[in-house]
Amino acid sequence: MTQPIVASCSSPPLPGMVPTAQQLVTTVVEQVQLARDTYRLRIAAPELARQVVPGQFFMIRSPGLTNPLLGRPFALYDIWCDDAGHPAGIDVAYLVVGKMTGLMSTWTTGTPVEIWGPLGNGFPVPECDRLLLVAGGIGNTPFPAVAREACGLHSYGVRQLSRPLRPDHVTFCYGVRSADYLAGLDKFAQSGIDVQVATDDGSSGHRGFVTDLVAAQIAKHGNRGCRIYCCGPEPMMHAVARLAAQHNIPCWLSLETPMACGFGACFSCVTRVKQSDGTWDYRRTCVEGPIFPAEQLAL
Ligand SMILES: Cc1cc2nc3c(=O)[nH]c(=O)nc-3n(C[C@H](O)[C@H](O)[C@H](O)COP(=O)(O)OP(=O)(O)OC[C@H]3O[C@@H](n4cnc5c(N)ncnc54)[C@H](O)[C@@H]3O)c2cc1C
Ligand code: FES
Repeated sequence: MTQPIVASCSSPPLPGMVPTAQQLVTTVVEQVQLARDTYRLRIAAPELARQVVPGQFFMIRSPGLTNPLLGRPFALYDIWCDDAGHPAGIDVAYLVVGKMTGLMSTWTTGTPVEIWGPLGNGFPVPECDRLLLVAGGIGNTPFPAVAREACGLHSYGVRQLSRPLRPDHVTFCYGVRSADYLAGLDKFAQSGIDVQVATDDGSSGHRGFVTDLVAAQIAKHGNRGCRIYCCGPEPMMHAVARLAAQHNIPCWLSLETPMACGFGACFSCVTRVKQSDGTWDYRRTCVEGPIFPAEQLAL
């Protein structure tokens, strides 16, 4: 599918923006509903698609609009390619919770979008034997790209995975309120990874917490060569971090701290991080995060 690509620099980079990040006014290519109140937005932006790595994010706003004035952060869901196989843009997936996400749900093909990124650090390259991806609710959004990279199906940015994982060595534990919130299962199926679902009401998969699924995976496979990447509500990440610590499994958490600028200038996104000497200091989630080793966070 060849899509018109209308991605051009609209203005000079915002002051303080990280050097590789770009600010563009571009257009929506398509909008697809994935689940209840949940959408995937496809945006034309070949430069961003070539640079971004899994776990990084973009700030998105409506150009020229003052309400809402500030951009909002959204994780890379995946990149998309044109018919010739060249990176042509990025997908984000979002849950409608307020003003900006409500507005985004009205966007259609050709709607102008202001976007800046790629921002943040991204998940580490998954050099391990077994990878557990753990998501609560809309925290699933960074994981399609993580899964594709881990299985060697796509290389993102300039980084290379030395040894792709077998898809059955990547498990995605996905917890939602009820089955109608399950988003992007077909996308995960394309990577061939093992998908385990938990719902609060038992309408799909295991009835109960996603942490039950994580505990079951650890009981089944042990901790050897295992890593955990996690994103979701803080109490759930706290529980996953505790499980990881109990079983001595390296664990990284992706924080969804509210942000104003996204590139390190406003300090609205700071989080407390434990330093190597055991003291605590503050770090900007948008620059030094959003992904931190679990043991560094004050959860
Ligand atoms: C690095 C990062 C990546 C993110 N990726 C995604 C993503 O891929 N998909 C997605 O749907 N969302 C993602 N988020 C969260 C997303 O940015 C917020 O949902 C969005 O800013 C809400 O904007 P709004 O104007 O619709 O809501 P607002 O009108 O600003 O707020 C509506 C309600 O949601 C609450 N809220 C707003 N932001 C957050 C937040 N970050 N955490 C908890 N509560 C919040 C507000 O307190 C308020 O109660 C991410 C956040 C970060 C920091
Ligand atoms: S959002 Fe401005 S410094 Fe992080």
